[in-house]
Amino acid sequence: MTELKWWQKAVFYQIYPRSFADGNGDGVGDFYGMIDRLDYLQDLGIDALWLSPHYPSPQYDCGYDVADYIAVNPEYGTLADFKRFLEGAHRRGIRVILDLVLNHTSDQHPWFIESRSSRDNPKRDWYIWRDGKDGGPPNNWYSGFGGSAWEYDPTTDQYYYHYFFKQQPDLNWRNPEVKQAMWDAVRFWLDLGVDGFRLDAVGTIFEDPALRDHTARLSQLELYHALRAASSEEDLARLIEERKAMFRYQVEQPEVHELMQELRAVIDEYPDRMLVGETGEIAYYGDGHNELHLAFNFPLMKTERLTPAWVRANQQERLSALPPGAWPCNTLGNHDSPRVYSRYGDGQNDDALARLHLALMLTLRGTPFLYNGEEIGMTDLELADISQFRDNVGVWVYHTAINELGLPPAEALAYANRFGRDKCRTPIQWANAPNGGFSPAGVQTWLPVNPNYAQGVNVADQLDDPDSLLNFYRRMLRVRKQTPALIAGDYTVLHEDAEDYLAFLRSDEADGQTCLVVLNMSDRAHTLSFDLDAHRARLVFSSHTRRGDGDDLSQLQIAPFEVYIGEIEGGA
Ligand code: GLC
Repeated sequence: MTELKWWQKAVFYQIYPRSFADGNGDGVGDFYGMIDRLDYLQDLGIDALWLSPHYPSPQYDCGYDVADYIAVNPEYGTLADFKRFLEGAHRRGIRVILDLVLNHTSDQHPWFIESRSSRDNPKRDWYIWRDGKDGGPPNNWYSGFGGSAWEYDPTTDQYYYHYFFKQQPDLNWRNPEVKQAMWDAVRFWLDLGVDGFRLDAVGTIFEDPALRDHTARLSQLELYHALRAASSEEDLARLIEERKAMFRYQVEQPEVHELMQELRAVIDEYPDRMLVGETGEIAYYGDGHNELHLAFNFPLMKTERLTPAWVRANQQERLSALPPGAWPCNTLGNHDSPRVYSRYGDGQNDDALARLHLALMLTLRGTPFLYNGEEIGMTDLELADISQFRDNVGVWVYHTAINELGLPPAEALAYANRFGRDKCRTPIQWANAPNGGFSPAGVQTWLPVNPNYAQGVNVADQLDDPDSLLNFYRRMLRVRKQTPALIAGDYTVLHEDAEDYLAFLRSDEADGQTCLVVLNMSDRAHTLSFDLDAHRARLVFSSHTRRGDGDDLSQLQIAPFEVYIGEIEGGA
């Protein structure tokens, strides 16, 4: 195969530690559980893990409020447990990357506790402190999570800045000591052998130094109102622009790219490590070699229906915009977004569509990221009562809906379920057993378990069923690994106007392999004719039973919802 780095060939799998596996039976996931499940992950066929934050944290934002960058959350285990996990993963050929939250710390981090203690504390300038203006905050900025971005602190009579919750004060990255402390933490984990980092919220790291007021015309609440009422794509597009104007001085400041170059240099002190950014912005690839190795293709996810036309337009735009040498990275779900099965299903053909969506991830050019639980078709769980919410975004939305928008509680709850993120974070369903086999019977899990574990949405039942979604994942992951063109190949779109299906070639010159991929996203059968130099394809994979193992490319029969991969005989 063309010489590629491990992270270009790998399929990543995101572990959300609180919900992945509960090894000590206390209702919360932990490293004991993760260690026990390494064999499962190896058999599944993934190559690398992204671990959402595993650091000590008051959990105001489910671990994205870090209170110590060089330790392990005691609920999850000890540093020794972490090392056992890392070794166990590496022994199985699985790499591990960690989540690195650079923008902010927890307000319980000793750095912030010191910083807020007095105006002349040596760590004062590690965060962003400003005097108020006209009896209020320093400017009109909002927090991305809602409300003002400034919190008044009576001890020192100043405000501090927080892009996210006030429990997550922003670090001042213009202070070289902050960089030093954070790069030390980075080296701590690299020295232990971790393979890289997923960088949280990179776009928010710097703010406009002059703290200029934003000039959006709507208030944040008016914007929420308008978003609720938006009935057309045009309305929505206009409101998204308005939101951009609201945050223009708080995100994507040019200095972030210098910082990423610095971090890249730190990473490059170690062989074979990588960075992936929580950003859809191509600018973070730098010149293709000097910033992040990967940035997520988030634009692909920004739709409610993954139609062939949508995917083609996305690929056309994304692939042509990447700088030379940059490698794409695709995903459809993570701990901040609805579950793939729920979001992109149509309510009737969900299982077939889930298979197509996996196939899409594994056959498009680039590194795929999967999210734990999607392999068994876990669905969003709507919570029945606000007391069950653990994501404070949901809680905030609920109270704001009632207090500021005047909505009745039932509607506020629906709103909280829609915008809150708990729905995709429920415990992994390991078996048809109490608590879905996540925790022992009678234990209260940190979020409710989705009761559909009893209807076949669980690992144990699906392992036993050759036709299950889980076994489909396992098969397709193997096929990808054995098919160089699917990993290294170029992407060439075919039948550009097809409404029902996606057809493209993946062609790897170095290996002389070309594959034809057809993903029929419709319930209609098609007989397709491809005008290629070669006339026949050898079957590599199909989601359906096909007769024979060769196909005539001038009359290729594709069943409704079929995933078809054929190797073109003699190249295209
Ligand atoms: C990122 C995380 C999200 C978190 C936020 C603040 O977007 O993915 O879960 O709430 O950053 O850290």
